[in-house]
Amino acid sequence: MVGAGVVGCAIAYELAVRGVQVHVIDGRGPGLGATRASAGMLTPYIEGHSAALLQLGVCGLEQYDRFISRVSSDAGAPIEYRRIGTLQIAHDDAEAGKLAEEDRALSAMGVAHSLLSGREARQLEPALDARVTAGLRIPAHGYVGVQSLLSALVEAATRRGAEFSVAHVHAIDGAAPVRVETTGGALSADAVVVAAGSWSGGIVLAGRQAPVRPVRGQLLHLRLSEPPVSHVVWGAAAYLVPWQDGSVLVGATVEDVGFDERVTVSGVRRLLDDGERLVPALGNAAFHEARAGLRPATADELPIIGASSSMRGVYFATGHYRSGVLLAPLTAALVADQLVDGRERRELALVRPDRFGL
Ligand code: GLY
Repeated sequence: MVGAGVVGCAIAYELAVRGVQVHVIDGRGPGLGATRASAGMLTPYIEGHSAALLQLGVCGLEQYDRFISRVSSDAGAPIEYRRIGTLQIAHDDAEAGKLAEEDRALSAMGVAHSLLSGREARQLEPALDARVTAGLRIPAHGYVGVQSLLSALVEAATRRGAEFSVAHVHAIDGAAPVRVETTGGALSADAVVVAAGSWSGGIVLAGRQAPVRPVRGQLLHLRLSEPPVSHVVWGAAAYLVPWQDGSVLVGATVEDVGFDERVTVSGVRRLLDDGERLVPALGNAAFHEARAGLRPATADELPIIGASSSMRGVYFATGHYRSGVLLAPLTAALVADQLVDGRERRELALVRPDRFGL
């Protein structure tokens, strides 16, 4: 396994559960790439920007209850995970018009939701900005505390015999056994899964490279004495994720700046302004931390998952862009089914590596 982000760790866990001897290699250690800056939102009906991504996201969300209870029990550790629903809000007629369009699309799909006036939205969430003109509530949505999920995945995988080590992987030569060149020397394995997110493109794969580019996201972690809202709140410019302990995550920028993982003054300023525009009480919050991560994007904004068509023993699980946490359990199941049981679930047809010549 190359890459110990949430996707790599979920696959490592799923493979270890099925009796595979797993070695996870990452240049930094578990959860220190894009995973570190993820808000953990589980919101496919908002973020499913194409029919394929919506299908994957809905399928991903369906896996979550069971996945969290398995990982938590195998790790012997709690995971912050709540299906508290989302409340999207509008500040003007154009934004309200978009919520009305979503209302029609959700009705056509038979998804439970409610379209609210500004007054109704504020009755539901009194801390919302007074200028809110409309709201859309989707109760199935939720969030997971990504750090708690990541630590539990590492613990659960380790208890099942997985090993984790820190090294950079430069090159992989397919053909079982697969040869993996790392800064710590060469290794070989019956199969290798490339799950290195934005860094997947830097690994030479028998002369090819995974077409993944980094898109920076900056995220704030603020703290109040108690949660100001009871839903994940989604506005046109920012979103808020309220944890039970009063932490509020405010996300996120979307920046095409290459491999630049810095938190910037303008990014933080923008998130503070946009967050307060949703819930003014955030002006009184303690500033805990700002983080930045590089989301791995592909040209069609869909992940690359499954066996390589040209390199025997090489599998991909990368390019998850804005949906790494949502799709981690599904990705783990797709890869483990194919690698261990030779079984191809139908979702694989949407994400095959061969669409990029891999
Ligand atoms: N999925 C949230 C984000 O990418 O900002």
